[in-house]
Amino acid sequence: MGKAFGGFAAVGAVASLYAMKKSWDPLPSVKAAGFTTLDMSAYKENELVVEKWRGKPIFVLKKTAKMVSSQTPVQAERDVMIDGSHYMIAIGLCTHLGCIPAYKPSTEDFLCACHGGQFDFSGAVTKVPPPRGLDIPPFKIDGNKLVLGEVGPEYQAMKDTGITL
Ligand code: FES
Repeated sequence: MGKAFGGFAAVGAVASLYAMKKSWDPLPSVKAAGFTTLDMSAYKENELVVEKWRGKPIFVLKKTAKMVSSQTPVQAERDVMIDGSHYMIAIGLCTHLGCIPAYKPSTEDFLCACHGGQFDFSGAVTKVPPPRGLDIPPFKIDGNKLVLGEVGPEYQAMKDTGITL
């Protein structure tokens, strides 16, 4: 009985480790000289992927058609549009004290477990204490690729309106 349980637990542990690794494995991306290039054709709707840029977690969330059609102007102005799709791109650190918020696909929002802050699927803050939405890293759109770390006109326009920080 003990052996059978041990074997069962070991299988469970391996499955959990595999699931953890899978969710943390970045999609194919190219990193060079402080830039990270993401192939945006690889992402699936409502599935948060955590990429990495200059040691920081970067949230990439491809929005569903329902998210896009239901969002407010405040949410829409944070969209990064590539090849006809809408994405939330944000630094995955809570703007309160820097914890990493968790995404819940069923409610399409983020909860920061440290002090209960919440963000919507656009990265806008919906519940304090975070003082603002998730920060948007510098990016440049290059065809169906996104180059993190370069400043393109779309990022510059967001920065000028004050929504990147
Ligand atoms: S660090 Fe996120 S709510 Fe405090």
